[in-house]
Amino acid sequence: MFTPEQRFSAAVQQCFASRAASYEHQARLQAAIAQRLARRCRPLAAELPAGPRADLGAGSGLLARALHSQLGGPTLLQLDACAPLLKQGQQRDPATPRLQWDLNQGLPHSLQGAALLASSFALQWLEQPDQQLEHWCRALRPGGCLALAVPCQGSFSLWPEAAERAGVPCTALELPAANTLLAQAEPWLELQHQSLLRFSRSNHGALPFLQEFKAIGAQASRAPQLTAGELRQLIRHWPGPESAIVWHVLVLVGRKR
Ligand SMILES: C[S@@+](CC[C@H](N)C(=O)[O-])C[C@H]1O[C@@H](n2cnc3c(N)ncnc32)[C@H](O)[C@@H]1O
Repeated sequence: MFTPEQRFSAAVQQCFASRAASYEHQARLQAAIAQRLARRCRPLAAELPAGPRADLGAGSGLLARALHSQLGGPTLLQLDACAPLLKQGQQRDPATPRLQWDLNQGLPHSLQGAALLASSFALQWLEQPDQQLEHWCRALRPGGCLALAVPCQGSFSLWPEAAERAGVPCTALELPAANTLLAQAEPWLELQHQSLLRFSRSNHGALPFLQEFKAIGAQASRAPQLTAGELRQLIRHWPGPESAIVWHVLVLVGRKR
């Protein structure tokens, strides 16, 4: 018997697997954030201790590659639960170490005492993201670095608002609160950088918006799928192009105390 958490995790992996081949063509926001986060880490390059480096929820490796080009040094282990996404990265870059691993189990033993743990757009998919973040901070060795980007509460608020007006369930993934994540990280890390970035995208209606999630395989939801009638209601109550789609992305770079 599978628990609801295991069923959700399996659904997340199935969705990402179904779009693995086209992920990198479609994941423009993720690619931009990976580059930005990696640039933020550049000043740390000279001071990183020796030890394992990993990209957690690496997917096809956008962040691992960006970090390696900014920091040099040993390549990052690319760890993800979705084998087809890892395989996409392997075709581009066969020598990089990869590990299929479900992060809801915590970190593999090989990452205890890590020198660098990085993650972009993955923490929100895990059960209890704040607790997972604390585990990641604990696993770092003193002087080791955490580099994190994660979409947070308040992102694309027009979706729950439209769902409420339409009287239909909102099937969006619940995102972690930036303040809660910061509160977990601060006791462990000397923060070198923290920001809550706002990315504004044009709003072309409910269907193109939902299609953007599907295009990268990020459509898994803990809520049951909307019926055709509910979807029509949501489309009808979606705001016009004057309301932009805004993402709030927490970016953190910190060094273990
Ligand atoms: C939006 S993608 C981001 C991938 C990559 N970090 C990037 O920026 O392009 C989210 C990733 O989190 C991974 N993921 C989700 N739940 C996971 C879990 N429980 N364990 C490991 N990886 C997971 C997915 O397989 C997917 O590769």
